[in-house]
Amino acid sequence: MTRQEPHRPQWHFSPARNWINDPNGLVWFDGEYHLFYQYNPYGDQWGHMSWGHAVSTDLLHWHELPVAIPEDERVSIFSGSVVVDTHNSSGFADDTNAGSNPPLVAIYTGCLRRPEGGQAQELAYSQDRGRTWTKYSANPVLDLGLRDFRDPKVFWHAPTRRWVMVVVLPDDRLARFYTSHDLKRWVWLSDFSAPFVGEGIWECPDLMPLPVVDDAGVTVGQTWLFKVDALGGHPSGGTGARFFFGQFDGVRFTPEPQTAPRWADLGADFYAALSWANVPEGLASQPQPRQVWLAWMSCHRYAKHLPTHPWRGAMSVPRELLARRGESGEMLLLQRPVPALQTLRHSGFEYPAAPLANAEVSLLPPHADGRTLEAVLEIHSTSAGATCGLLLHAGQPGDAGNAAAPGTRVGYDAARGTLFVDRSQSGFTPPDDALYPQRREAPVPAPTPDQPLRLRVLLDWSSVEVFVGDGHTVLTEQVFPADSSRGLRLFASGGTAHLGPVQGWLLAAAPGTLA
Ligand code: FRU
Repeated sequence: MTRQEPHRPQWHFSPARNWINDPNGLVWFDGEYHLFYQYNPYGDQWGHMSWGHAVSTDLLHWHELPVAIPEDERVSIFSGSVVVDTHNSSGFADDTNAGSNPPLVAIYTGCLRRPEGGQAQELAYSQDRGRTWTKYSANPVLDLGLRDFRDPKVFWHAPTRRWVMVVVLPDDRLARFYTSHDLKRWVWLSDFSAPFVGEGIWECPDLMPLPVVDDAGVTVGQTWLFKVDALGGHPSGGTGARFFFGQFDGVRFTPEPQTAPRWADLGADFYAALSWANVPEGLASQPQPRQVWLAWMSCHRYAKHLPTHPWRGAMSVPRELLARRGESGEMLLLQRPVPALQTLRHSGFEYPAAPLANAEVSLLPPHADGRTLEAVLEIHSTSAGATCGLLLHAGQPGDAGNAAAPGTRVGYDAARGTLFVDRSQSGFTPPDDALYPQRREAPVPAPTPDQPLRLRVLLDWSSVEVFVGDGHTVLTEQVFPADSSRGLRLFASGGTAHLGPVQGWLLAAAPGTLA
């Protein structure tokens, strides 16, 4: 892949061609991270849903493989998960070496290809490290005769020594738990619906144990995270990943009390996040249980209009997950880009700590290509009413007929007490979509020299991800700037900002290879 097409992600996963949406079947097995995904093998719009496939050893360089599980005459292959069936509970292992080569089993939603639809949970298995897949002859394995019943996430529950599935009834905004000993016969365990429902049908649940760390990063306990995506009700006016902390006892999920919906990402483009199964010790930087997830970095409302060719869709940076208790006692979800990202850093740049008043300064040498980079900025304090931060993908004033330089502004708004991402001047905006260019915000405490606001920004050719503090707040947005918008500036307007040193690096591409 040349990766030179306009807007082509340089190190986020995107397929060589065609449409993708949700990540599916994330699993580590025999030295490889597998990334399956909702894929249309025939075009750049949603349809003919099949599982596309890529593998990586570092979660950054992806080798795209042929379609793993194709749509057939009966069903399209909707979202789901993959497990390593270590003890061959399913009997799907190759008879000749069942003990040494456990099968991978995919559990996904088969969506009937008839006008009235119909969704049920089905199986396929692989005996050759995910390279070829056989659909189970007795599919479906869990069928309630419903039109909408989808997105099974299956995991091994060690204390009760059985498989657990979480799957959703989208319109009822209900998650159902089932259990099985062989992945084929499923028994209902319990239901979970949100303490307050909110808008938007539910899709793509996930459930996982997470380490709880203290302020120093030391593991002090464990909690469970339940995530479900809502196709509405997100602060961006669109879609997003809701989450709940609580306990799972092998039968039911009991949430901790909370008073408002909580969203894993406050940007508009983080949907259908899924965690990797089976990540072994030593591969992630945190103690067990290790959890890493990524999401489809887009939004169903406008995905089909986005100006990329010949592919459409990309995944977020893979993020390690942890939990920490905040000052008011509530559990916080911490997300951090996988450490391997640091291997892409080159051409470091710095800017010294300084006050900045109603000014903009360039952070890159002339002619540097700042279309993909990582930058860390600390804001120590501001005057009342000041706005300050980074102008990403900065163009020249006068570009696109604007007096101000185009670009994506990420920063702190003292009057509103928020961190924001503003893509209103970023470049392409989908037609008839008033919400798309709106500013996204997260409330943050006013920075002080003792407790500065620390932003870590990851920029690629068509996305920005902002991690705040230790990762307790994240905003992810797609942007489609002009090719010439390659600058990076620090700005302060409406007053004075006292900024710490800025540290940054240009990021190298992580070229993938093609099937
Ligand atoms: C979420 C979703 C899933 C479904 C899949 C179909 O984006 O709607 O609920 O399984 O996409 O592509």
